[in-house]
Amino acid sequence: MFLCWCLSLVALIPLTTSTNPGVKVKLTAKGIEYGRQLAVASILQKLKTIKLDDMSGKVRVSAKYSLTNMNMVDVGLPTAALDLVPGTGPKLSIVNANFRLHGNWRVRYRFVKDSGSFNLNADDISFSTSLSIKTDPTGRPAVSSIDCGANVGKMSVRFRGGASWLYNLFKKSISSAIQKAMQKKICPLVANAVSDLNNNLKTLNVLAKVDKFAEIEYSMVASPTVSNTSIDFGLKGEFYNTGKHQEPPFSPAVFSLPPQINNMLYIGVSSFTIESAAFVYNTAGALSLYITDDMIPTISPIRLNTRTFGVFIPQIDQRFPGLMMKLLVKMAKAPVITFEPNNATVQSFASVTAYAIQPNATLTPLFVLNLVSSVGARVFVSGTRLAGAVTLSKMDLTLGTSDVGDFQVGTLNSIFQTVLNFVVIPTMNVQLAKGYPLPTLGKMKLVNTQLLVLKDHVMIGTDVQFTG
Ligand SMILES: *[C@@H]1O[C@H](CO)[C@@H](O)[C@H](O)[C@H]1NC(C)=O
Ligand SMILES: *[C@@H]1O[C@H](CO)[C@@H](O)[C@H](O)[C@H]1NC(C)=O
Ligand SMILES: *[C@@H]1O[C@H](CO)[C@@H](O)[C@H](O)[C@H]1NC(C)=O
Repeated sequence: MFLCWCLSLVALIPLTTSTNPGVKVKLTAKGIEYGRQLAVASILQKLKTIKLDDMSGKVRVSAKYSLTNMNMVDVGLPTAALDLVPGTGPKLSIVNANFRLHGNWRVRYRFVKDSGSFNLNADDISFSTSLSIKTDPTGRPAVSSIDCGANVGKMSVRFRGGASWLYNLFKKSISSAIQKAMQKKICPLVANAVSDLNNNLKTLNVLAKVDKFAEIEYSMVASPTVSNTSIDFGLKGEFYNTGKHQEPPFSPAVFSLPPQINNMLYIGVSSFTIESAAFVYNTAGALSLYITDDMIPTISPIRLNTRTFGVFIPQIDQRFPGLMMKLLVKMAKAPVITFEPNNATVQSFASVTAYAIQPNATLTPLFVLNLVSSVGARVFVSGTRLAGAVTLSKMDLTLGTSDVGDFQVGTLNSIFQTVLNFVVIPTMNVQLAKGYPLPTLGKMKLVNTQLLVLKDHVMIGTDVQFTG
């Protein structure tokens, strides 16, 4: 027993160690209202499919009835509220629900048999259920219906066919039998509609594939917190090398979403998430680039050859006349991303190795420079992806090593500005424009989307639509 208890405690440890989320998602009252509409539509659908089992009963010793073929004709849920119960979850309350049922009746009283059809109207139905939202073993949210209660109030039955003196004997019994049967059906049906909701929640992209190098983990780091105005989810929001989850030497800082309410959903993506991306691509060796002359637009007077470089460093042209050159730009460490209000900046630290290309294709190293550059980033949402575009704001060159003697590094600024602006940055922007998947459910569409760059995170405010 004690051993079991210890083992179950050990099993819980990964869930209870608190990791700060890299991505936060807030569902606002507006989002919950949309959820209410979806829930009501789903419950309505289910109620319409209710089929009561055939039933029979006795009124007195000698009076028997049976009811068959009972089907819903119409269901209405005019008043449904979804309220948040802080610390628990949403509570769905439906009052004044109504339905119309059609069925066949058959009665026997002493030696008289009679039959016909009936319509039953019920317009005083209420039910309510609380929903608990937890994390399932895959890190997706899972909801369940707790404390469901249903009450089916008064109903009126109208018989067709047969003799009224006869069916009036049964009227009360019949409506009370149906009342009980209905009352028993509602909560299981609500639980069923709620568990259908889990099929949608299971589509959360807890491991979103980005490209051949990377995937993003969006599993929940803890169960969501429910306040009286929102439900807040903490997601891991971390890039990993595909199939190889190595932790970076830094971890998410605490950040909080501002109390916005105009959109259904707010998604906060921390600088940690973006830095984990930089770490992953850097570790995968994906942040290096060979630059050759053909990559520089023909209109540029600056060419990657020993003649252009010879203008600034004469010994290059003297020792290697008439040769083309090649540059290798390689990240020295993962870039640093800074989010300040209205300002997203990426600072990167690279080495640039310049080579002369010998006629036999051998690369002769000329020098190595350290390149520190800052780019300003515009971050935007494209579909359900977070994308970006950068522009160079600052560049700083220092000499690493030289195989061609001393030279003034500053004289190469114009060459490297050309290289960054015409080759490196456009290459980055092609990648960044493809975007990175945001956490999504099923076929979710984002509409009325806006994005703000805030301290240590970007905040996306959006409404959602589910299509199909
Ligand atoms: C929500 O709770 C806060 C404090 O817990 C309270 O000040 C506020 O009035 C509540 N809002 C609503 C809409 O109930
Ligand atoms: C943006 O932030 C960077 C670094 O935090 C800073 O150097 C730069 O001046 C800022 N730009 C603006 C327009 O505020
Ligand atoms: C290629 O040419 C260079 C310069 O002429 C020479 O030093 C080098 O040995 C040659 N390499 C090969 C593999 O032929």
